[in-house]
Amino acid sequence: MPDIRPPDTEKSYEKSAIRKTQLRMAQRILQELALEKNSVVLDAGCGSGFSMEAASAFSKNIFGFDISSELLLVAKRKGIKNLSRADFAAVPFRENLFDAIISLSALQWFSPKDEHDVKDHYARIAEEFFRALKTGGKAGLQFYPASEKEWEIAVKCFRKLFDGYIIEEGEGRKKKKYLILEKK
Ligand SMILES: C[S@@+](CC[C@H](N)C(=O)[O-])C[C@H]1O[C@@H](n2cnc3c(N)ncnc32)[C@H](O)[C@@H]1O
Repeated sequence: MPDIRPPDTEKSYEKSAIRKTQLRMAQRILQELALEKNSVVLDAGCGSGFSMEAASAFSKNIFGFDISSELLLVAKRKGIKNLSRADFAAVPFRENLFDAIISLSALQWFSPKDEHDVKDHYARIAEEFFRALKTGGKAGLQFYPASEKEWEIAVKCFRKLFDGYIIEEGEGRKKKKYLILEKK
């Protein structure tokens, strides 16, 4: 499994403006998911743990995984627990475990050669999230697709398995899209 080192290195990524944005988006998703206090939550692509910090106000059972050992170390140094190193394509947990999966600014980290690769990437993630969620479980996903076409392909892949809806907020460069899913 290759170790990804995003351009956002530890120093720049920990900058407070970025932290605030990630916290705000995580809170928006978590409110929408309306979790119960004892919900078991997975943060996919948790990075240095901003969304896990936000999630701790909503649940005490939070797990996170990320492909970058460097960012996992940053999270660990902040005292965040239940971290593993893994790829979206192989979520390292048994089936039907989670009440909710969140993922922020992470799912778009791949380098497709063509539309086929894009479809394979999101279809695989949809399968893995579906497997790891309980029936009735929900997912709240925010990511930055490279194009409108990529967003459409991703939404189609998730909707093959999940019920769901999209929330759009903000305008222009600040526009955010959230994909909210439920495993029926
Ligand atoms: C921009 S950061 C966002 C981190 C975190 N979700 C947050 O809101 O602060 C994107 C994260 O996705 C992770 N990532 C990229 N590709 C991944 C993959 N295939 N599997 C797991 N994590 C991945 C990166 O290592 C990075 O930590």
